[in-house]
Amino acid sequence: MKNIIYTFIAFLTFTSFLVIGCSKKTPHYELSRFIPPDFCGACHGGIYDQWHGSMHNLSLKDVIYQELALQGLEGLTDKDEIAEAEVCQKCHVPVGYITGYPKKLSDDFSKISDIGKEGIQCDYCHSITGAYKIYNARFKFDPGRGDSDPGIKRGPRDDAESDFHGVAYSEFHKSSKLCGTCHNVKHEIFGTWLDTTYQEWEKSPYNKEGVQCQDCHMYQRPGEPGTGLTARGKNPGSSTSGSKERDHIFTHYFIGGNSVIPGMGNDSARVKMAEERLKSAVIIDMDSTTEGNNLVVRLNNKGAGHDVPTGVSNMRQVWLQVKAVDSKGKTVFESGVPDKKGYLGDEAVVFVTKFGDGKGNPVDNIAKAREILHDKRLKAGEEHIEKFDLGDIKGKLKVTASLNYRTIPQDLADNLKSLNGMKIPVIVMAEETIELER
Ligand code: HEC
Ligand code: HEC
Ligand code: HEC
Ligand code: HEC
Ligand code: HEC
Repeated sequence: MKNIIYTFIAFLTFTSFLVIGCSKKTPHYELSRFIPPDFCGACHGGIYDQWHGSMHNLSLKDVIYQELALQGLEGLTDKDEIAEAEVCQKCHVPVGYITGYPKKLSDDFSKISDIGKEGIQCDYCHSITGAYKIYNARFKFDPGRGDSDPGIKRGPRDDAESDFHGVAYSEFHKSSKLCGTCHNVKHEIFGTWLDTTYQEWEKSPYNKEGVQCQDCHMYQRPGEPGTGLTARGKNPGSSTSGSKERDHIFTHYFIGGNSVIPGMGNDSARVKMAEERLKSAVIIDMDSTTEGNNLVVRLNNKGAGHDVPTGVSNMRQVWLQVKAVDSKGKTVFESGVPDKKGYLGDEAVVFVTKFGDGKGNPVDNIAKAREILHDKRLKAGEEHIEKFDLGDIKGKLKVTASLNYRTIPQDLADNLKSLNGMKIPVIVMAEETIELER
C-alpha cells in the first residue's frame, strides 16, 4: 500500500512538474499574498528610497512606455502581432500580471491595483526562487501570505535574521540570471530577440570574470557610477537600523541611461547618476595621423557589461559626432551634427538595432518584428573602428569627435504627446579633440 501511495505521490509531483515546467500558462497567486513596498520600507528605509523613483518603480507609470505600448496596438489585424502587443505587462506590471490583472495590455489601466502600479518591486524580486527560462519573465515564485505571514525573503546573506519575515540565502539573487529573465525579451510568437542584455553579457568578458549585473548596477550610488571603467567601491552599512553591519549593502537605484523619465519627475539626483553612468562606459580615441584621407576614430566599450546601447536598442540613439575646423575657425567637415529640429541625417554613424517584417522592410512596432535587419553596436571589451573620409581638406585642423546618447530620438519624441515637445537632452558619453596636420 505504502509503495502505491509513494508511486502516486511521485506521479503527482512529476506531472505537476511537467505542467508547471512546460506550459506557458501564467502562474497565479492571490494579490493579498504580496506586501506593498512602503511596508518593506518601514524597516529597509535606505533601500526603499533608492528604489522609489527608479525605472523599476516607474515601469508602468513611465509615460514613454505607456504611449508607445498603446500606439503599438493601433491598427493591428494579424493575431500573432496582437498577441505580442498585448504581453507588455508581464515585465512592466509584473505583480499585476501574476495576480491576474491586467492580463492584457488593453485591460483598463485605472483598474490596476495600487500595488500593481508600483512596478517591479521588493516582494516580487525577493519572492523569486528561480526561473524556467532566462527570458520573458518565466520566473518561479514562493511569495508569503501578506503581512500577517510574510513568508521567506530571499537574498545575498546566509546569516541574516529578521523577526518579521523568514530569510534565506539565494544563489539566484547573486546571479545575472535573475536580471536576465526580464532583460532578455523574445517575441512570444515569432521568436525574434527584441532585447538581449543578458545574452550580450553572457558573451562578454565579464561573464568569464564572474562579474554579474549586480556587481556594477547594485554598487552605483551618487558620485560612484560602478562601471567597468570606475572603481566599484563597497557601500558599508546595514539594511535596517539596528541589524548587522555589512561591508557592502547592495544598492537599489537601478540606473541605466534613461534620464528623460526621472527628469520629468524633477529627480535631478537620478538624472545626474544616469549621466555619470553613461560617461563611464566608452573610451574614444582618434589616430594622430590619417589613413589615406580617412580620419580614424576608435571606440572601446570598457565600462558596460553588454553592448552599447543595450536594452531597447531600437529606440535608444547613440551616435558619433565629428567636426573639423581649420586654422581660421571655419568648419570644414562635419558628421552626425543634428539639424535645427534636433534630427540626425542619414549620413550619421548610429549604433542601433533595426527590426524587419520578414521581407526586408523596416518596422518600428516590435509586435511586427519577424527579423533583425540591422545590429550595429559597441560590444563589451571590444574595439570598434569608424573611418571618416576627409577628402582633399588640407592644412592644420582641429578635430573633435564625441559619442552622444539620447534616451529617445528627437523625431520619435516629437510624435509622443506625453513628451509635450520636450527637447531630449544629448549626453556626451565620451569626447576627444586632436590637432591634425594634412
Ligand atoms: C520589521 C522590519 C522588517 C520589515 C518590515 C522587512 N524586513 Fe527585510 N529584513 C529585516 C531584517 C532585520 C533583516 C536582516 C538584515 C541583515 O541581517 O543584514 C532583513 C533582511 C532582508 C533581506 C535579506 C535576506 C537574506 O538572506 O539575504 C531581504 C531580501 C529582505 N529583508 C527583504 C524584505 C522585503 C521584500 C520586505 C517587504 C516585503 C521586508 N524585507 C520587510 C527586517 C525587516
Ligand atoms: C529587480 C529586483 C529587485 C527589486 C525590485 C528589489 N530588490 Fe532587493 N535585492 C535584489 C538583489 C538581486 C539583491 C542581492 C544582490 C546580490 O547579492 O548580488 C538584493 C538585496 C536586498 C537586500 C539585502 C541587502 C544587503 O546587502 O544585505 C535587502 C534587504 C533588499 N534587497 C530589500 C529590498 C527592498 C526593501 C526592496 C524594495 C524597496 C527591494 N529589495 C527591491 C533585487 C531586488
Ligand atoms: C520583473 C522584470 C525585471 C527584473 C527581474 C529586472 N528588471 Fe531591470 N527593468 C525591467 C523593466 C521593465 C525596465 C524598464 C522600465 C521602463 O523603462 O519603463 C527595467 C529597467 C532597468 C534599468 C534602467 C534602464 C534605463 O534605461 O535606465 C536597469 C539599470 C535595470 N533594469 C537593471 C536590472 C538589474 C541589474 C536587474 C537584476 C538585479 C534587473 N534589472 C531585474 C524589468 C526587470
Ligand atoms: C561592467 C559593468 C556592467 C555590468 C556587468 C552590467 N552593466 Fe548594465 N550598464 C553599464 C553601463 C556603464 C551602462 C551605461 C551605458 C549603456 O547604456 O549601455 C549600463 C546600462 C544598462 C542599461 C540601460 C541601457 C539603456 O541605455 O537603455 C540596462 C537596462 C542595463 N545596463 C542592464 C544590465 C543587465 C541586465 C546586466 C547583466 C545582464 C548588466 N547591465 C551588466 C555597466 C554594466
Ligand atoms: C520580458 C520582459 C519585457 C516585456 C514582455 C516587455 N518589456 Fe519593455 N522593457 C523591458 C526591459 C528590461 C526594459 C529596459 C531596457 C532599457 O531600458 O534599455 C524595457 C523598456 C521598455 C521601454 C523603454 C521605456 C523608456 O522610458 O525609455 C519601452 C518603450 C518598452 N519597454 C515598451 C514595451 C512594450 C510596448 C512591450 C509590449 C509589446 C514591452 N515593453 C514588453 C522588458 C520587457
